[in-house]
Amino acid sequence: MANNAPVGVFDSGVGGLSVLREIHQRLPQESLLYLADSAHVPYGEKSADYIRQRCQRITEFLLKQGAKALVVACNTATAAAVNDLRAHYPQLPVVGMEPALKPAVAHTQTGVVGVLATTGTLNSARFAALLERYSGSTRILTQPCPGLVELIEEGQLDGPKTRQLLERLTAPLLAIGCDTLILGCTHYPFIKPLLQQILPPSVSLIDTGAAVASRLQQVLSEREALADGSIPASVRFWSTGDTAQTAHILPKLWGESCPIFACYD
Ligand code: SIN
Repeated sequence: MANNAPVGVFDSGVGGLSVLREIHQRLPQESLLYLADSAHVPYGEKSADYIRQRCQRITEFLLKQGAKALVVACNTATAAAVNDLRAHYPQLPVVGMEPALKPAVAHTQTGVVGVLATTGTLNSARFAALLERYSGSTRILTQPCPGLVELIEEGQLDGPKTRQLLERLTAPLLAIGCDTLILGCTHYPFIKPLLQQILPPSVSLIDTGAAVASRLQQVLSEREALADGSIPASVRFWSTGDTAQTAHILPKLWGESCPIFACYD
């Protein structure tokens, strides 16, 4: 049986649009709801309790809009809250993010993998479990990136400030021989072109947006809940913050301008 209800996708801000883009490409028949929690961005340095409360509020909002499934398009929120959400909403399929450690370990030639992520993601029990499971004999270098999400939220995807910050963050990883770099935050795919300019061509960048879209397809298919294309798919956007600011940056990140609705939750 098909289900033409929308899929709810959220992030602390606009970073999750990198995941929304992959979902839209893979599942164009699905209607999508996107919520940017811009009034509370960044999540990266906030407490797990605070993030769990935000995730709960946002999930309630997306359920009120009719969401049939949820994608937590934020690594920090996944690390803090995905188990909680699954326990609270056992009927709701919930797909989360995960830094791509397994493919990175399989890919590295030098045996040194770098992980760019927020402090919250890197300090989480979820990330510790991933390390335990997949790192083996590979050396994993973690690099928190305070300030990077804020620059991306401002739309500074290739400006001098972002370049300087990235040069400073990646230099120690390169010095130790890192040849595979995991983008462990959904904001970071938007600075991939800049990273490719800064890093030697021998360094591969790995992110998980496409894998998450594929996982969503699998989860919906198992539940016979994929849309059947009998109604035109739509994409609707909300922001808890300044909708004018989100509207300003949306064309750069999503490829077209769209109305942004205010969410006061
Ligand atoms: C943040 O809000 O600090 C980053 C979100 C993420 O980890 O994807």
